[in-house]
Amino acid sequence: MRSILFVCLGNICRSPLAEAILREKAAEKGMDLRVDSAGTGSWHIGEPPCDHSVRIAKQHGLDIGAYRARQVCLDDAAVFDVIVGLDAKNVADLERMGMANVYKLGDFGFGGADVPDPYFFPGFEGFEKVFSMIERCCSGLLTQLETDLA
Ligand code: 4NP
Repeated sequence: MRSILFVCLGNICRSPLAEAILREKAAEKGMDLRVDSAGTGSWHIGEPPCDHSVRIAKQHGLDIGAYRARQVCLDDAAVFDVIVGLDAKNVADLERMGMANVYKLGDFGFGGADVPDPYFFPGFEGFEKVFSMIERCCSGLLTQLETDLA
């Protein structure tokens, strides 16, 4: 089975959304795809996604309430075919760990833009923007996965 790992900083805001969105899109197409997410940081290990991410996911029919944060590790490079960072810092951190097959989510639908970190945004609005960015990029990513990526 093909496999993909999304990586952000905390694994409580952005990458859990990417995980849920891509899993749903793959299921809709009947694609056999393992999808997971992790964070480069260790602050939130074991914690559920942040409230705003749970809420925006629910508004789109996705339940991420049972997800739990974990930290990315070097073994992930051997387990996952494709590793996708949510912003340039995530990608740089993964490459610094020595990982290959690392991509940036924004390259699949947002002109290479970072999916901004909404953790420090004051309200819910940023999460709506982040959700729509991730959704558009995941559509592009899935198309690539169907054709030539890894
Ligand atoms: P995420 O957001 O990377 O999208 O999960 C963050 C969550 C927590 C922190 C930073 C970003 N933090 O510094 O604790």
